[in-house]
Amino acid sequence: MSEKRQILVTNALPYANAALHLGHILEYTQTDVWVRFQKMRGHECYYVSADDAHGTAIMLKADEKGITAEQHISEMRSLHEADFKDFLIGVDSYHTTHSEENRIFSELIYNRLKANGHIAQRSITQAFDPEKELFLADRYVKGTCPKCKAADQYGDNCEACGATYSPVDLINPVSVISGATPIEKESVHYFFKLPEFTDFLKEWVATDSVQKEVANKLGEWLDGGLQEWDISRDAPYFGFEIPDAPGKYFYVWLDAPIGYMASFKHLCDLKGIDFDHYWKKNSTTELYHFIGKDIVNFHALFWPAMLKSAEYRTPTKVCVHGFVTVNGKKMSKSRGTFINARCYLDHLNPEYLRYYYASKLSGSVEDIDLNLEDFIQKVNSDLVGKVINIASRCAKFVTNGNDGVLSENIENPALWNQVSGVSTTVAEHYENRDYGKAMREIMAQADAANEYIAAKEPWKLNKDPEQQQKVQDICSLGINLFRVILAMLKPVLPATAIAGEEFLNDTLAWNSIDKPLTNHRISIFTPLMKRIEKETVEAMVEASKEDLETITSNVATGPLADEPLADEISFDDFIKVDLRVAKIVEADHVKGADKLLRLTLDMGGEIRQVFSGIKSSYDPKSLEGRLTVLVANLAPRKMRFGMSEGMVLAAADDQGIYLLEPDSGAKPGQRVT
Ligand code: 2FM
Ligand code: ZN
Repeated sequence: MSEKRQILVTNALPYANAALHLGHILEYTQTDVWVRFQKMRGHECYYVSADDAHGTAIMLKADEKGITAEQHISEMRSLHEADFKDFLIGVDSYHTTHSEENRIFSELIYNRLKANGHIAQRSITQAFDPEKELFLADRYVKGTCPKCKAADQYGDNCEACGATYSPVDLINPVSVISGATPIEKESVHYFFKLPEFTDFLKEWVATDSVQKEVANKLGEWLDGGLQEWDISRDAPYFGFEIPDAPGKYFYVWLDAPIGYMASFKHLCDLKGIDFDHYWKKNSTTELYHFIGKDIVNFHALFWPAMLKSAEYRTPTKVCVHGFVTVNGKKMSKSRGTFINARCYLDHLNPEYLRYYYASKLSGSVEDIDLNLEDFIQKVNSDLVGKVINIASRCAKFVTNGNDGVLSENIENPALWNQVSGVSTTVAEHYENRDYGKAMREIMAQADAANEYIAAKEPWKLNKDPEQQQKVQDICSLGINLFRVILAMLKPVLPATAIAGEEFLNDTLAWNSIDKPLTNHRISIFTPLMKRIEKETVEAMVEASKEDLETITSNVATGPLADEPLADEISFDDFIKVDLRVAKIVEADHVKGADKLLRLTLDMGGEIRQVFSGIKSSYDPKSLEGRLTVLVANLAPRKMRFGMSEGMVLAAADDQGIYLLEPDSGAKPGQRVT
């Protein structure tokens, strides 16, 4: 193997704002597999990440929850860390951008940019919420498009006609945060002089630092002329105050990538690693950032230019991936395909998804489709039907026939050389993040191993006392082929690899792949992985719909919700919704549902059954006898547990669920308007 490399790897830092979903998991899986592969090859490789904890959205979210921003980001960080851990993401340091290390590096880098003349300062005019006393980013202003007059458009562009404008051009603009009419206000902002780095960036892009398609896009931007980048925000803002600029804060995207350095520094301090060796200008170490295609400008323009100005090393490579679609479409809450990481983990083994994603990844920026039927089929057929099957077909003969000791002979050297020999090609595919090719190569060898066993039929030979050695030789080769295959899958299936190591009594290492185990005692085989049941995947999709019921179909999160207000409706639209007072006559748990209660409602004579995602906040018996409000003309919905005939109204936030209840005296069946 080539000499020992020193590699630092990062992935995009998730906002400390929302739960992780299967889109995040794609990137983390891609990164984790690459890191595990590098470590397995014996390189020194560190993998760091963090929560991206700053910005207006996070500040508002904390306000909305009635807690401090610090409390909020600490809660989110714990949730994120638990999700990553359970998806077997082996990050070496998971930190936060709201850390002392990050403050120090952000100030240091900013001071260097400033000292080098790369910071400009000028006054700009922005929309300002006079009630909240807050400058409003474009997405926090809505109004009527000045061009086509479409209502309810964001402050930067119109989704109806595509016009671009500034928030102050909107007709009847309103602050999404308070509903107030924004005013225009001036303030001083600080800018990073990005255009001065155009030539440097052209050179950097030419060093194979991004995929070809990304380089083409960057080329267009660079040729089109870069703009100075606004790196400051006015108070109130949750972030770091800019040195010598009271009331001005670093824009979240300034300190987010610096968070990579901060997280690594945190690790260096714990483990005694030489930070400067990795980050100094012209460092011989390698630096890889794994990111999604939506944040290329931050990582391949602003970030390398900042590093250059601040006299640090620049990234070796920015590895860009596409988005996740589910069943060929954008993830959707109503279809139940917007699946949170935790919801997946509540139902399925993380390695199924790790393998499926690996089988689809190609090192390009193309989107990855998680087709749920294909997912079931592929995992069952490849992992259970092919890989695990090799061991389960052979182990018992070795255990029973030779006390678990593998034969001295290699029954078919050509086959052994073929299967173990592909590890070189597989390693190249891993290195290039072309995991799909790696998986196909490995499965082709699993096919070859199964064909060999099927052709030799050791179960038939075993009936003949004369053939006992042959049986041992065949099955020992089978086990050895399984070992090679599992070793090559170890970066993708770390937990199964550990279980396999216990079975094989061996550590699966890349440099011993081509050395078969002979005269070696294995342990008793136990099935290493179960098949995916279709019903479990269906239950996960159903549960994702349940999440939606709890979170958004109730009057959920007020004007500060992540989701903008729905399009305006007319009174005629509104009265189409038939809201009725209903009495809860019975409330019960639903077997197999994490979030639902079954409510039996009396609507003044007519009885309805409704499933409602309110279980986390209510003991069912406490609801019996209460009045509430029912959307009575909602089309009945077939759920896994039965028909749901309407929907009860409730508000919800992270603290709980609050069922709507009319004042006493209201009668079941009465219309609510
Ligand atoms: O797009 C995002 O989710 C950002 N929080 C990613 C930040 S990556 C890095 F720069 F910190
Ligand atoms: Zn328009």
